[in-house]
Amino acid sequence: MSKKTLPFGGEISRFYESDAPAEIREAIAGASKDDILGEAYPYPERMEAKLYEKELYRLQIELAKFQTHVQREGLRVVVLFEGRDAAGKGGTIKRFRENMNPRVARVVALSAPSPREQSQFYLQRYMPHLPAAGEITLFDRSWYNRGVVEKVFGFCSTEERARFFRLCPNFETALIEDGIHLVKLWLTVSRAEQLRRFLAREQDPLKQWKLSQVDVDGLKKWDDYGEAIRETFDATHTVAAPWTVIRSDDKRRARIAAIRSVLHQIPYAGRDEEVACAPDPQICGGPDLFH
Ligand code: ADP
Ligand code: MLT
Repeated sequence: MSKKTLPFGGEISRFYESDAPAEIREAIAGASKDDILGEAYPYPERMEAKLYEKELYRLQIELAKFQTHVQREGLRVVVLFEGRDAAGKGGTIKRFRENMNPRVARVVALSAPSPREQSQFYLQRYMPHLPAAGEITLFDRSWYNRGVVEKVFGFCSTEERARFFRLCPNFETALIEDGIHLVKLWLTVSRAEQLRRFLAREQDPLKQWKLSQVDVDGLKKWDDYGEAIRETFDATHTVAAPWTVIRSDDKRRARIAAIRSVLHQIPYAGRDEEVACAPDPQICGGPDLFH
């Protein structure tokens, strides 16, 4: 395919060829499909497909029980999916919902705020999507945009962000005190793996829609993102609403850990403790897993 016909004029492959740090380029060039690229990753290879399918199947059965419990007991559940671009939020959400009732497990993926929304109280546009009894809201990105992408791209002022950091823990505590179950998942991907995924998206007509100008411009802002993410953890990793950080260089292990972590955090009738056990601590933990 000629560069001109690629999304964003082939900016991603151009970055890969000319601007990416040499060690990132080498890691990608020398890797086979099943190799894990992140240096700090605890396993050398992806989880084996058969094992993944088996575990996923067992976890989806648990999700079905969880859903029944949520409906019967009128629970309200919020799961936030956060992480850098291409961390695997969309794919993980898809596995969560695969066998669930779309009226129970609803995805909220808001677009960039309109000028009218920008003039409102920051959390206002998220509020209407919070769950009623018997509902699970899966936020594909969330109010945490103000902590990270808005900081990196200057979409909000320093004062607006500081105000958000003061407000956010109180807001989340209020949700929890009102009885809402809140799970905050942060998918963390290495730079080489993120670039490998962007390159694949650039070439794949079924995935090109996932790329945006923010992704392209973000290629050069890896370190700014890292700093903004650390500041966000510092301000919002609270006892009441802690972050669960999931290494997502292997999508399969990440999806298993994400589902397991929700099932493990919220008790439900008939839970199979062996399947809904604590997630792999090498893959899933607190903000110290982020680097
Ligand atoms: P996604 O990764 O969700 O497909 P993008 O990578 O394009 O979307 O953008 C990342 C996030 O930045 C999105 O949640 C988007 O709403 C947000 N964003 C983009 N432009 C703006 C803006 N001008 N002001 C605030 N947020 C923005
Ligand atoms: C991501 O986090 O990877 C993207 O937002 C979407 C996806 O994974 O499909």
